[in-house]
Amino acid sequence: MTQKVYIETVGCQMNVLDSELVIGALRKNGFDLTDTPAEADVLLFNTCSVREHAEEKTFSALGRVQHLKRQNPDAVIGVLGCMAQKDQELIRNRAPYVDMVVGTGQLAAVPELVAKVRETRAPQIAVSLGRADAGRHEVEASFVSYDPARDPSMRPTPFQAFVRIQIGCDKFCTYCVVPSTRGPEQSRPPEHIWQEVRQLVDQGCKEVTLLGQTVNSYVYEAGDRRTRLSDLIAGMHDVPGLERIKFVTNYPKDMTDDLLHAVRELPKVVKYLHVPVQSGCDEVLKRMKRNYTAAYYREMLARCRELVPGVSVSSDFIVGFCGETEESFQLTMDLVREAKFKNSFIFKYSERGGTKAADRYPDDVPDDVKKRRNNDLLAVQNENSRLDHRAQVGATVEVLVEGPSRLSAKTSRDRDGAGLLQLTGRSMKDHIVVFDGPMRLVGETVRVQITDASPFTLYGTAEIAERVGVEEAREPAPVVPMAKPSKFSLPLV
Ligand code: SAH
Ligand code: SF4
Ligand code: F3S
Repeated sequence: MTQKVYIETVGCQMNVLDSELVIGALRKNGFDLTDTPAEADVLLFNTCSVREHAEEKTFSALGRVQHLKRQNPDAVIGVLGCMAQKDQELIRNRAPYVDMVVGTGQLAAVPELVAKVRETRAPQIAVSLGRADAGRHEVEASFVSYDPARDPSMRPTPFQAFVRIQIGCDKFCTYCVVPSTRGPEQSRPPEHIWQEVRQLVDQGCKEVTLLGQTVNSYVYEAGDRRTRLSDLIAGMHDVPGLERIKFVTNYPKDMTDDLLHAVRELPKVVKYLHVPVQSGCDEVLKRMKRNYTAAYYREMLARCRELVPGVSVSSDFIVGFCGETEESFQLTMDLVREAKFKNSFIFKYSERGGTKAADRYPDDVPDDVKKRRNNDLLAVQNENSRLDHRAQVGATVEVLVEGPSRLSAKTSRDRDGAGLLQLTGRSMKDHIVVFDGPMRLVGETVRVQITDASPFTLYGTAEIAERVGVEEAREPAPVVPMAKPSKFSLPLV
């Protein structure tokens, strides 16, 4: 009988990609995916350590499957990813029924480790990772040979894929666990990336999102050839069938002009930059070790907008970081008011054991103050998002259609029996756009005229929908979006 695997993923896009690769490898070993934990032979939890909340989510998920282990002692329960890397002891203490703890650098070994658990009935722990325990070449070898095992059924959609161009992080912001959970920064050889992109496009992929913790720090040197992110993008731009290229996340200090020129000049590159600033106060930025000032960030933002007219920019913020006074917080409010980000992800500071901030600075902002600052900042951002969205009304934008909107998926809404559903997708500036159209548009790029806007969504009329007669609209849809096989929590938890 075919073995079944269940997987839950929390955390960033890196984790979504890692889950895809793990499932790809398990399928090659005869496994099928299930979305029902009770029928799974292997249950995997791909985890995130970036904030305490993400860790608690995993512990409660593990609590929910404990009884399955009693019912079926042969089931294998595995914890993968960043928490596995950081907290293997804690996991084994809090959830002793976990059979497998596999760090971010060892994911390629999951099929082998599952077999070992079954053979030996002993827990398997595999967590060595570049920085402390192994050489860089070992990390590189594991991911270079690993990434090509792709599994289209695990992607956000069949026509969108993540491509890792860099692993790890060397920036060591004082609040952040990622340098220890993902190891040293490594850029992947461009040839490997180009080959993977071609392979993805051959499989029907139209949009690739290049991933790195500080993606614009990408540089690969071989002999006297130096490949920067701008060169990497240029080298894949003309792959026939590829329609869109995105990249996340950018580090403000590494936003170079060659990259901005590439964003402007190359038509397939989305006109959207995610460049987290974290705080508007220089003292806080210094304690965070972000290596720039608020003035530097403002200049960088002006340069982005000058070199790429009309570009959308979004940011991340941490509120209530150690020593953040009301005055420092107001400097962040000023920056958000002024910067006109398309959107911002705002997080309350969560102290992480083992980081420099945890060692050096007390977590001295009370939780209710963090909460209030979070809400205040969000209110300013939401007003800016509303204005940004309103400014799009009347424009015609190109939308890559991702699938039925949540509302449509829930209610199977079929307008007037004409086969028109509420569809959703993204514009070239990363705006979410909702409009009515037939299912066959899923995976296509359509022109949509924007007629209305909320702070989070644009609403419009697809040019093509007007031409679609009832007969044509009733045709069976050739593209069927996949049911999500397992749980995702996106974006960052
Ligand atoms: N590498 C990316 C993202 C890292 S994690 C970057 O550097 O931009 C994503 C976001 O989580 C960060 O941008 C930061 O805003 C937030 N974050 C990281 N550590 C955190 C912590 N300890 N507490 C709260 N938020 C945190
Ligand atoms: Fe963390 Fe800073 Fe690296 Fe981003 S750049 S992953 S916030 S250490
Ligand atoms: Fe991503 Fe969370 Fe790890 S944000 S890199 S999954 S700690």
